[in-house]
Amino acid sequence: MRASITFFRALTLILPLVRRGSASGQSTPTPIPCVVHPANAVEQKEIFNVFVDEFYVKRNIPGAFHHIAADYIQHNPFELDGITSSFNFLDPIFSNTSVKVQILHRVFEAPYGWLHYRVDDLLGELEPTAILDLFRFNGTCVQEHWDVIQERPVNATNPHALF
Ligand SMILES: *[C@@H]1O[C@H](CO)[C@@H](O)[C@H](O)[C@H]1NC(C)=O
Ligand SMILES: *[C@@H]1O[C@H](CO)[C@@H](O)[C@H](O)[C@H]1NC(C)=O
Ligand SMILES: *[C@@H]1O[C@H](CO)[C@@H](O)[C@H](O)[C@H]1NC(C)=O
Repeated sequence: MRASITFFRALTLILPLVRRGSASGQSTPTPIPCVVHPANAVEQKEIFNVFVDEFYVKRNIPGAFHHIAADYIQHNPFELDGITSSFNFLDPIFSNTSVKVQILHRVFEAPYGWLHYRVDDLLGELEPTAILDLFRFNGTCVQEHWDVIQERPVNATNPHALF
């Protein structure tokens, strides 16, 4: 199991993480998607942790997208299925280290991984944003995503902080 994770990490280092968009000579990097291989629950949890570390801690969005399947099913209404739409939307936001990310809770129960986190300075929001991301794994790859996003309203009924 360790060996296979080491293999995935090595693969991530060996493979170029991005290829340049060839259409119209634009330089927007598009990530190389994950290829589904069988993985057990323990391996999926390790891959989930690597994915979370790349995306939310190291803020290496092309590297994180290397764990997402090409036919990714996306439920966020602002993005389309597949990796390109989500990558083009998320890379500028999450690669920007002025946008602060603080992970609060994470759970993995195969094939689902949950992440609850706080984002400060997201797209000019005055209040910090609470986000819950839910990912479904298919073998070694993230295959499907749902999210719930909330800021504390101005006249909140409940005095508790969101976090
Ligand atoms: C990075 O994020 C900050 C805070 O949201 C924003 O003011 C700034 O314009 C962003 N920079 C880029 C290059 O998008
Ligand atoms: C897993 O990925 C394979 C290969 O892309 C696909 O055929 C299959 O439908 C996927 N299964 C699930 C449950 O998403
Ligand atoms: C919040 O409450 C104040 C005081 O009652 C009120 O003036 C204001 O319009 C409210 N703001 C919103 C966004 O509801």
